[in-house]
Order: sequence, then structure tokens, then C-alpha cells
Amino acid sequence: MDKFIIDGPSPLRGTLPISGSKNAALPLMAAAILGDSPTTISLVPKLKDIYTFNNVIRVTGTTVQFDEEANTLTIDPGNLGFAEAPYDLVRKMRASFYMLGALLGRAGEAKVSLPGGCAWGPRPVDLHLKGMEAMGADIRLEKGYVLGSFPNETVPGGEYTLSPSSVGATVNLILAAVRRTEHFVIRNAAKEPDVVLLCKALSAMGAHISGAGSDTITIQKANRLSGISISNDPDRIETGTFMIAAAMHPESSLTLTGTQPAHLGNFPETLKKTGADVSIADDSITVKAPSEIKPVPVETEIYPGFPTDLQAQWATLMTQATGDSAVTDTIYFDRFSYVPELKRLGARLALEKNTVQIQGGNGLSGTSVMSTDLRASVSLVMAAMIAEGRSEVLRVYHLDRGYEDLEHKLNRVGAAITRADD
Ligand code: UD1
Repeated sequence: MDKFIIDGPSPLRGTLPISGSKNAALPLMAAAILGDSPTTISLVPKLKDIYTFNNVIRVTGTTVQFDEEANTLTIDPGNLGFAEAPYDLVRKMRASFYMLGALLGRAGEAKVSLPGGCAWGPRPVDLHLKGMEAMGADIRLEKGYVLGSFPNETVPGGEYTLSPSSVGATVNLILAAVRRTEHFVIRNAAKEPDVVLLCKALSAMGAHISGAGSDTITIQKANRLSGISISNDPDRIETGTFMIAAAMHPESSLTLTGTQPAHLGNFPETLKKTGADVSIADDSITVKAPSEIKPVPVETEIYPGFPTDLQAQWATLMTQATGDSAVTDTIYFDRFSYVPELKRLGARLALEKNTVQIQGGNGLSGTSVMSTDLRASVSLVMAAMIAEGRSEVLRVYHLDRGYEDLEHKLNRVGAAITRADD
């Protein structure tokens, strides 16, 4: 298992290109299965989760070619003959559960493993299943698998209200409905840019979808979808992560290129409240660190509110603020595995239910740390980059799931990170 050895403190200065979004690419890949001809997706990041999903898709007989040089995926479902996603692969990545919607939509039936637990507590899929039942699918659970089928080629549909709003359930319901339901309405739908891009792709393929980006999405049946060429979105969470990293050391200044500032919701305004200088152009963002970081409490919310995927990074920034603050996660109550690890680096934090209280202004000093999920792990890298001395961040395979080329990118702008075998 690899680890990172990080020498700090080091300011980050220069320009970083933003990679394609993992969370936007996965729904596009699932959508390609619904086409009657091949789909090509560009700006796909080389990440473990993408390779895992390629393998999940291949199980069905679909051909997947990844041109890694060009970051372009070509998915040809012409030979799809096996509507199943096995536990071995689904357990590696929850988003493999998108195969349920994609295969139901394509083949009218599917057998997909339930995804199981997650490092940050229970992550149910009840809304995915209830929503599919509401559109007219038969859903059964058997030996850890979901067996889904539509009773007829076309079902009348209906409506379903997501409570709470869910990105994954919105994606899965759209995938299942576009080729099968006469009329289906998703209420309290997720408004994330990832959902908007999925709807844009499916509409270009021939689907009839309205309301993407609002909380009510309406779908009318399309008999046939064809493959398309489409560009993935840049990764808004990678963008936000680097924006926070740029604010952490008083001498840092980073320009992020190839990004989509409009996809960041309210986040840039929140970062400005710390005193950071944030300037936004068409597809680039420059963040200059403040001389003193003001404490800014945040609560995670659905888009365009503060993303849960940035809360660990924000708490890490707040350890360096001039006063105390708090970070509350209202989406995932248990997503705080980074708290004891940041304490090992010298930060002062206290966890009370789903809120971490943070005492600002404590210098960090390097040591060995480890975390159990992607965003927590990147926060530890960020903390290590401003800590005095040498740190080791163990189990970086979490980072390889979601940050393309992380250590090379950060080293190019001044970090001192070496990958080593643990
Ligand atoms: C996606 C993102 C993840 C992000 C999360 C929230 C991907 C691959 N992952 O995950 O990085 O952290 O959105 O922005 O895009 N819920 C239920 N029942 C369900 C489904 C969800 O109760 O059937 C709850 C969850 O427990 C959570 C909330 O709904 O409290 C939102 O979760 P959801 O939006 O579904 O997250 P994911 O799509 O799994």
C-alpha cells in the first residue's frame, strides 16, 4: 500500500489545471449504456473509480475503451447481453449502483448487488428502490442483490418525491425512466451540475427531459437513444479543494485553469469571507491566501450550498484561523474520520454529534496520519503541507480514487510530496 511522505511547510504558488470530474463522469458512463450506438466522453480523469466502473460496465458485454493519453472513453453497448453487476465490483464503489437504472432502462431487467456500507456510516439506497417502484418497476431483494424488472416494454410512470434530495437516486431514476416510462416526475430532485450534465447528455441522445437543474425533473418516453460525443465537466470538488489549499499558507497564490466557476455554487463567496482574495474569470480562478484567516463556520447543504465533499478540507483550513469556528455536516452525520488524525498533527478539535468545533490558531507539526475516505485523506495532505517537518499520510489509495495525479500536481506548485511503499 502506498503512502505519501510530505515535508512542510510549503506555500503553493503557480498554475494548476483542473481534471475532469469523477462524479459527473460516472453518470455519463452509465447513460452510454442506454444508447443504440457508441458514446465518446472526453475529459475523463484517470482515477481508480473510473477503472472500476469500466470493469463493471464490461461485465455486461459492453465494450469500453479508455484512451488514457486523450482522457477519452468510448463505450459501445452493442453487445450488451448480461444485465448484471456483481458484488465483487459494486462493493469497490457505490456509484456502480447506477447500473441498476442503466440496465433496467436498457434491458428492462437487472440484477445488481446492493452496495453495502461505507467508511462514513450507513448510505442507504432506499430512495433509488422506492422511486423505481413508483415508476412501475418490480423490485425484489434476494441474497444481497436487487432484482429489478419492468412488467412491460413501457410503463405509465407516475411521480416520486425524494426525501431527502439525493444525487445518486436522481441519477438512477432518470436512467431507468428515459426509455421506459410514458411520463415520470421526480420531485425534490438533486440540482447538482452532475445531474444537469447527465440530462444534457441524455437529451442529446434523444431523451425527453425537462427541469434539469431545478427541483422538479419531468421525463417522457423516448423509444430510441443514440450514442453521442460529449465533454465531461471539470471537477468542482478538486477545484474547491485546491482553492482551500491555496488559502492555507500566507504566501500561497494559485491559479486554477480549465474549471467551471459557475459550478461552485456559493463556495467562492464563503471562501472570500476568510479574507482570501478570490478572482474569477471565464474558466479560471485565482486564490491568494489572506495574511490572517478569519474564522467562518459552515453547514453542509445540497447544491448550491456548501458541499459535504469539502467539509473536511474546510475544517482543516479553520484550524489555522485567528479564532474559533464550527463545521456541521447535515448530509452525512458521520463523515469526521479526519478529526482524530488532525489532532495528531496538533490541531484542536472537538466532535459533538455532526458538528466539529475548531479552535483556530494552533500550529501543526508533522507526524504519521491515516484516514478511511477520500476527502478526509486529501485534508490530511493539506494539513501536512503546512505542518512543520515531515509527515506521512498512509493509505493513499483513497486519494487515487478521486484526485488525478495529486502529488505531481501539488509538487509542480511547490509541495514536497514523495510516494513510497508503506
Ligand atoms: C454523491 C456523491 C458524493 C457526495 C454526495 C452528496 C457521487 C458518486 N457521489 O453521493 O461524493 O458526497 O453525493 O453530495 O456522485 N439518502 C437516503 N436514501 C437513499 C439515497 C440517499 O437516505 O436512497 C441520503 C443519504 O444518506 C444522504 C443524502 O440522502 O444523507 C444525500 O445522499 P446522496 O445525494 O444520495 O449521495 P450519493 O449520490 O451517494
